[in-house]
Amino acid sequence: MPGAWFETIFDERYPELFGPLEGNAEREVEEILGLLAVPPGSAVEDLGCGRGRHSIPLARRGYVVTGVDLSDKMLGIARARALREGVSVEWLREDMRVFRRPGAFDLCLSLFTSFGFFNDRENQRVLDNVGVSLKEGGILLLDLRNAGKGLSRLEDWDQTIEVPSGTLWMSVRFNRRTMRATAEHVLTRQDGIRISSAFDVRVYSMDELGMMLGKAGMRVKNFFGSLSGDPFTDESGRMVIVSSKE
Ligand SMILES: C[S@@+](CC[C@H](N)C(=O)[O-])C[C@H]1O[C@@H](n2cnc3c(N)ncnc32)[C@H](O)[C@@H]1O
Repeated sequence: MPGAWFETIFDERYPELFGPLEGNAEREVEEILGLLAVPPGSAVEDLGCGRGRHSIPLARRGYVVTGVDLSDKMLGIARARALREGVSVEWLREDMRVFRRPGAFDLCLSLFTSFGFFNDRENQRVLDNVGVSLKEGGILLLDLRNAGKGLSRLEDWDQTIEVPSGTLWMSVRFNRRTMRATAEHVLTRQDGIRISSAFDVRVYSMDELGMMLGKAGMRVKNFFGSLSGDPFTDESGRMVIVSSKE
């Protein structure tokens, strides 16, 4: 029986299907370090690290990085790249609903919408685990899609773009009853072969996240509309929340 969507879509198809939406990770790392005063040598957890897009540049800058991900495929890509580039990262195949390492990290990063995949109880559990894993005063940066505007106005959308390997059709549907957004991506490769994937996340408001973070022993310190620190507005593309362990 196939597993939950988040156990199956993060495989070799992912870079083709979702890669075109990714930003430049080297620049994002610079931006994150510009937002947060976390010196090299600090222990960083990259939660849902995927292919190590941010873990590897952070390790290269002298951070002690632990990349946590459920997908063997993504971790395999990350490991191979780190090896090629001579960078040391601790890669862990762990479920973020379970993984905790008490008082271990100065910073936890959850980047490119790597939070909200589960039901409310499990999503809270992920934050509880982060709360336990951070040192006192440690920081969590959550980088989420600002889907609140979609939910409030039911802004479903479809878009087709040309990407290096073919034509990518993307659709996002918001469900006000479940407060979830479903994204479907279908890539038609130049040879006519089609591959597809669907993503389903709970969309939390800033207030809901503030309460959930509070329950997990953290307090919101700042929020932005991008990793480069733009002010957060209803129209922002991202919702970037910086909180710290009290
Ligand atoms: C949207 S991707 C983002 C990856 C990475 N942060 C980036 O920016 O490239 C989300 C990642 O979360 C991972 N993931 C999904 N469910 C997970 C779970 N239960 N525990 C740990 N990681 C999980 C996926 O395998 C995937 O690599």
